[in-house]
Amino acid sequence: MPSDNLPRKGVVLAGGLGTRLRPLTKVTNKHLLPVYDRPMIYYPIQTLCDAGIRDIMLVTGGDSAGDFLRLLGNGAAFGLNDISYTYQEGEGGIADALRLCEHFAEGERIVVVLGDNILQMGITPYLRNFARQASGARILLKEVEDAERFGVPELENDRIVRIEEKPAQPKSRYAVTGVYMFDRRVFDFIKKLTPSQRGELEIADVHNRYIADGDLYYDVLQGWWSDAGTFESLFRATQLVARARRASDTTSA
Ligand code: G1P
Repeated sequence: MPSDNLPRKGVVLAGGLGTRLRPLTKVTNKHLLPVYDRPMIYYPIQTLCDAGIRDIMLVTGGDSAGDFLRLLGNGAAFGLNDISYTYQEGEGGIADALRLCEHFAEGERIVVVLGDNILQMGITPYLRNFARQASGARILLKEVEDAERFGVPELENDRIVRIEEKPAQPKSRYAVTGVYMFDRRVFDFIKKLTPSQRGELEIADVHNRYIADGDLYYDVLQGWWSDAGTFESLFRATQLVARARRASDTTSA
């Protein structure tokens, strides 16, 4: 581990069948679809690179896995020397995909970004907070209007006491965004999970395991954030990126 304790390794999860985006995902992977002027997968990779993370593992799956290699190669477009790839069989959920990264993590702390999460601003401040933790996990929350679409924290005295996945009656207005920081224990916790009602290993259950140990921390994410896994959110993400791009073109002109 580096002396500043900042994580050096990042994981981008880009598996799944993207069923909510059919027919767009009938012949390709969700994370290869465009978000304004780039393939969706570029954004989480850029988020990690901007935070100084150069050791990156991409987890993919389905029939289009080879297309990620064709698109990203060794990551030259991001100034990387190489990218690690692994393949998730079936539809086991986010925690199941992460399970495949134990070997890659080599006992170090990791940062995980879901492949459809697009952030306006960098994550370095949050990684610094994580670096100050002796142990545990850290997640990023964002206030949203439709919390029932996400993992939702229940807060008591500013501490998270439980996270519920897509609750019908959300206990707060916050979504758990798809940026997670974990210590090495994450892999032991995943091994002990049992599948949820929808047959997946849920990342919310991993977070709840850290809560049980009193070792889950959070920040509220600054700047806009969007997932892109539904028609509405993909459209929203595209608009947010387009607006940001135009604003930066104006300032640099
Ligand atoms: C996943 C997680 C959910 C989280 C969301 C963020 O949901 O399960 O907890 O809030 O990502 O994008 P999914 O996009 O798989 O429905």
